[in-house]
Amino acid sequence: MKVLRTVRELTEAMNDARSKGLTIGLVPTMGALHQGHVSLMKRARIDNDVVVASVFVNPTQFNNPEDLRTYPRTEEADCEKMEAIGVDYAFIPSVEEVYPEPDTRVFDLGPVAEVMEGAMRPGHFNGVAQVVSKLFRMVNPHRAYFGEKDFQQIAVIRRMVELEGFDLEIVPCPILREEDGLAMSSRNVRLTPEQRAIAPAIHRALSESVAIAGEKSVEELKDFVVKTIDANPQMRTEYYEIVDGKTMQPIRDWKESECPVGCVTVYCGDVRLIDNIKY
Ligand code: PAJ
Repeated sequence: MKVLRTVRELTEAMNDARSKGLTIGLVPTMGALHQGHVSLMKRARIDNDVVVASVFVNPTQFNNPEDLRTYPRTEEADCEKMEAIGVDYAFIPSVEEVYPEPDTRVFDLGPVAEVMEGAMRPGHFNGVAQVVSKLFRMVNPHRAYFGEKDFQQIAVIRRMVELEGFDLEIVPCPILREEDGLAMSSRNVRLTPEQRAIAPAIHRALSESVAIAGEKSVEELKDFVVKTIDANPQMRTEYYEIVDGKTMQPIRDWKESECPVGCVTVYCGDVRLIDNIKY
């Protein structure tokens, strides 16, 4: 595996691969890699001749400076994991390399970015669109891999791809979970042992809600999930929305969507955890 730190090295490697007719798969990450990230890279390894993974804690998508400051950074361990999977290029740039000047672009992301994470974290999705569009331009991949753990993010990236006219395939990948059901996340390491022990209650509540969905209205089910999660000490649901899996718009009746998805954000102490489930 080659570690690339500059845009110039990256562009050269990618031009070289393209000129040989090789297919390129890109896996964008912010590092602190866990099995969820690994699953995306393994999938990219199967589908493509060349696999590029980026590790970059993107400052423009953090609306909370404390979250940016405390975001885990584990470059050495990340490189070992990427090497083991057979990633060809790890792109690990500095902030100055990605943003030689401030990125002032404002993307017209529309309704998919206005609800849930978009409403709770102003500017977050614009920052994601900024960095992912830069990565797409630098790498020019045939395919890019994203986890369904950040379900709304995938819809936002599809919208950005449409706006910018990128010719590539977005490949959504399933959520990887710990054995007790907690969705894997780089932020899980920030949970205290006590918080870690109760955090699986999030997925448990979502799974139970799927089991009883047939007998309940959308509103009743939302109440059930919020009450079940918030019954745990130290847990506070920020939102639970049941949305159409394509438009991300909340539904009021099951008839409104063929692919409803329940999306939740929960504060466990001061750690913000997100998860979702398909109905
Ligand atoms: P990050 O949180 O590091 O996640 C990188 C990718 O891994 C995302 O596509 C995310 O959905 C996926 N992922 C995270 N946890 C997962 C899990 N448990 N199962 C499956 N996939 C999982 O998402 C970002 O970084 C950033 O916003 C980024 C797209 C890199 C732009 O900066």
